[in-house]
Amino acid sequence: MVGMTSPTFSPSLRLSDGHSIPQLGLGVYKVADAHATELVAGAIELGYRHLDTATLYDNERGVGEGMRASGVDRSELFLTTKLWNDDHGYDRALRAFDRSLELLGLDYVDLYLIHWPCPAQDRYVESWRALLRLRDEGRVRSVGVSNFAIPHLERIIAETGEAPVINQVELHPWLPQSAVRAFDRSQGILTESWSPLARGRVLDDPVIGAIAERLGRSPAQVVVRWHLQAGVVVIPKSNSLARVAENARVFDFELSDDDLSRIAALESGERTGKDPEHFG
Ligand SMILES: NC(=O)c1ccc[n+]([C@@H]2O[C@H](COP(=O)([O-])OP(=O)(O)OC[C@H]3O[C@@H](n4cnc5c(N)ncnc54)[C@H](OP(=O)(O)O)[C@@H]3O)[C@@H](O)[C@H]2O)c1
Repeated sequence: MVGMTSPTFSPSLRLSDGHSIPQLGLGVYKVADAHATELVAGAIELGYRHLDTATLYDNERGVGEGMRASGVDRSELFLTTKLWNDDHGYDRALRAFDRSLELLGLDYVDLYLIHWPCPAQDRYVESWRALLRLRDEGRVRSVGVSNFAIPHLERIIAETGEAPVINQVELHPWLPQSAVRAFDRSQGILTESWSPLARGRVLDDPVIGAIAERLGRSPAQVVVRWHLQAGVVVIPKSNSLARVAENARVFDFELSDDDLSRIAALESGERTGKDPEHFG
C-alpha cells in the first residue's frame, strides 16, 4: 500500500448552508469508468473523503462502486457531481439528476453543481431553480455552480434569493482568480479550484521547482499546499494511486510569505480550459 495517511487528513471547510466539505478531494476527470472503482476505493483507503465527478466524465458508476467498495460509511464521504450542458432547463435538470443518482447507486449526493453557465442557452436560472428543488427534497445536501462569472452569480442570486455554496472555477498559480474569489467571499460562497495543477503543466515551472527543492517536496505538493493556504477547496486528479497519495502529503509543511509572493508573481492569466463566457 502506498504511504498510508490518517483518515482525517484534510480539514473541512464550512459551507454557508451549515454542511461542511473536506478541503482536499480527488478529481476524476479523464479517469475511465473501469478504473474509477479501484482508484476511488484506494484514495478512500489513503484517507480521502471527498470525490469530484460529473456526468461529462462518464464514470459515475465506477465512482459509486468505489465508494461502496471502500467499506467506509456513506455518511463519512462527500460526493460531488455536476449537471452537464445538454441538460439545462428545469425539467431536464431534474431528469439528469435522476440518471446521475442511478448511475452512482446512491440515494443522495452531497453537492450538485451546474457545470457551466452556458450563457448562450440562457437557461441557467431555470436549472438553478431545479437544483434548489432537489436540495429542498433532500436528494442533494448542498447546491452550487461551476465556471460562473460574477454577472452569472449576481443573476441567480437576484432572481432566486439563493446564493450557491460553492463556485468551482479553473484556478492555479497562473490564474489565481482574485476578482471571482473576492466576489465569492462577499456572498459567503466558497471557491473551489479545478485543474489546480494546470493539468500538470505548472509543475514544470522553475519557480515551483525551486521552492519544491528547498522544501524537499514535489512540485505537485507545493502547488496543492498553495491552494490550501489560499483557503480554497482543491481537487487534484491523478490516475495513479502513488500520485494520489503524494498529492495528499501536504499537511505537514507550510509555504513561507516569500514562497507565496514568488508564486503570486507567476500570474499570467493563462487558462488550460474553456472560457466560461463563450462555452456551451
Ligand atoms: N468544473 C469544471 O469545469 C472542471 C473542469 C476540469 C476539471 N474539473 C475537476 O477538477 C479536477 C482536477 O482537474 P484536472 O484533472 O483537469 O487537472 P489537474 O488536477 O490540474 O492535473 C491533472 C494532471 O496532473 C497530473 N498529475 C497529478 N498529480 C501529479 C503529481 N503528483 N506529479 C505529476 N503529475 C501529476 C495528472 O497525471 P496522471 O493522471 O497521469 O497522474 C494529470 O495529467 C478534475 O479531475 C475534475 O474533477 C472540473
